Amino acid sequence: MDRLSSIAGRLISEHSLTTEEYAFLIENRTPEITELLKEAAVRLRKEIYGNAVFTRGLIEISNICRNDCLYCGIRKSNRNCDRYRLSREDILLCADEGYTLGFRTFVMQGGEDPYFTDDVLEDLVREIKRRHPDCAVTLSMGERSRESYERLYAAGADRYLLRHETADPDHYRKLHPPAMSYEHRMHCLAELKDIGYQVGCGMMVGSPYQTVRNLAQDLKFIETFKPDMCGIGPFIPHKDTPFRAEPAGTLELTCFLLSVIRLIHPPVLLPATTALGTIHPLGREKGIQAGANVVMPNLSPVSVRKKYELYDNKICTGDESAQCRGCLNLRMESIGYELVTDRGDIRKEGF
Ligand code: 5AD
Ligand code: FES
Repeated sequence: MDRLSSIAGRLISEHSLTTEEYAFLIENRTPEITELLKEAAVRLRKEIYGNAVFTRGLIEISNICRNDCLYCGIRKSNRNCDRYRLSREDILLCADEGYTLGFRTFVMQGGEDPYFTDDVLEDLVREIKRRHPDCAVTLSMGERSRESYERLYAAGADRYLLRHETADPDHYRKLHPPAMSYEHRMHCLAELKDIGYQVGCGMMVGSPYQTVRNLAQDLKFIETFKPDMCGIGPFIPHKDTPFRAEPAGTLELTCFLLSVIRLIHPPVLLPATTALGTIHPLGREKGIQAGANVVMPNLSPVSVRKKYELYDNKICTGDESAQCRGCLNLRMESIGYELVTDRGDIRKEGF
């Protein structure tokens, strides 16, 4: 057997490869191997989750951010970004509406906005949990102190999403300003896990300066960290960032990596991201068909949707929450999957 087939076979049977082997697999992938891994990934996901695709309602609570990540449309240097912050009432209304639409997980995501102190966030988490005790609350609010993460966990937050962005310190420095560090990012992820959160990491595919080796390092990190969730989507340039002229990541490589990640960590919750739906009209469907099992429709008020623009041409910015819900229902049904509304906790038994 050639090296490629033997590596692919071992990924399927052992769920683990060396960093060099991951790099070889990415570099030398063929349509046949891609198909083989995709089928194995889908089979594995079916064994664990059946035809279920989980939904998480995304509430984009603020686009004010103290950070200046070079790839991101809401970076603080972007003077063209029309800033907003949702009020307590707005956020609670989004959650109430989401609940009525059947959502049982709410993701509060935002820039690192100093307004959202521990007191403010704690109150929000408590109030959502009080109104909707059967729901999971996920936070995606960036890097905070351990004390802060602990307080929010004690207030009832169940999950935290913090993409690692890249598992290579040198690559990390090329994507972020000097004030941010790879070490601190990884430290936050370790603390979140230690505190007891279900944790999501992740990276962009095709971000500027990313090499095949960098992606292999990401895969090795995912293999060892074993996140409960892993958000991966293509990099898409934003016109008001230093990376405006960089090419976007591809559907093909993103889907390939979704299959590989499913095989590395079978129970992982893997979203078919909005970015994937942005680079191709059927991107999210193809993501699910490659091994993803989560979609995250937008519950933010339509009045602010266009303002939470991390990258150009983001989809769903003109649609009401109910439209997104209905749209995704149809899209998932069209490929033989069922959008389920329960909390969709990770199934760890046996893994
Ligand atoms: N293209 C794709 N994804 C992006 N993100 C930020 N900017 C972009 C972009 N230009 C991703 C980052 C971040 C998440 C919220 O969105 O990975 O962690
Ligand atoms: Fe938002 Fe289709 S998911 S319109």
